Amino acid sequence: MDNKQVYLQGQYLPLSEAKVSVLDRGFLFGDGVYEVIPAYQGQLFQFAAHIERLNNSLKSIRLDVAYDLAQWQAILEPLLIEGDAQYIYLQITRGVAEKRDHAFPAQIEPTIFAMCSPIPLVEKLEGVSAITLDDMRWQLCNIKATTLLANVLLRQQAVEQNCAEAILIKDGYAIEGAASNLFIVLDNILITPPKNADILAGITREVIIQLAQDNNMACVEQPITETALLQASEIWLTSSTKEILPVIQLNNKVVGTGEIGTVWHRMNTLFQHTKRVVS
Ligand code: PDD
Repeated sequence: MDNKQVYLQGQYLPLSEAKVSVLDRGFLFGDGVYEVIPAYQGQLFQFAAHIERLNNSLKSIRLDVAYDLAQWQAILEPLLIEGDAQYIYLQITRGVAEKRDHAFPAQIEPTIFAMCSPIPLVEKLEGVSAITLDDMRWQLCNIKATTLLANVLLRQQAVEQNCAEAILIKDGYAIEGAASNLFIVLDNILITPPKNADILAGITREVIIQLAQDNNMACVEQPITETALLQASEIWLTSSTKEILPVIQLNNKVVGTGEIGTVWHRMNTLFQHTKRVVS
């Protein structure tokens, strides 16, 4: 095991020594939230946006952790390791209760855990395959909850069909990936589903929308029907660890020309530049 330093409950310690109680509600119920924050050349990327989303998730599950941006930065920065692209995994669970009970006690100390890992970015240069699957998740997909069993099963199904990701379909609409947001290019317009409780408000998604606006690329936030998905000339999946992943095969059929599209090349160039200048 990689015995790197991790953060747990106010302490930095080797991964092998980081232990939590079996009564932790994260372990028993998946009662917690998390963030995945990329860092490039030692600089946390879109840090304020990640912490804002974390605070929204915490509020949604009624968990009170009152660290400000500077306090989170002081906790997380010492974890950054050598290397160009890394990500911080930050998890906050409701903590350890005296007994197992679905309802939570009023007084309980949250468990805070964080670690840093390298981001491997290779597959996107060749494009990936994806499949569509029915979205069987819950009604609060805007919360970045650690309770990810549906996402786990969906992604596993994709992997077992030699696909990188599952694109989730809900009531005839393409929503997002099992662990990523969705963009398509249709008639030269970039389209991504609007923010609501069906999707996670991805930080990468937000950066892409901003880059499109700043560079006069037509981009709209509107629902994507399954039919539009199948007609798209380009399909991308975006996340903090995958950046902008071009999908060149969907359900065993080529997407567009079967090559990575021109709009992707343009956006990826802009994104790579932004990574280097903004943090
Ligand atoms: N997942 N939608 C879902 C369901 C996700 O799990 C993720 C990211 C995204 C993209 O969000 P962002 O651009 O902020 O990373 C959208 C992370 C990477 C994960 O669970 O590991």
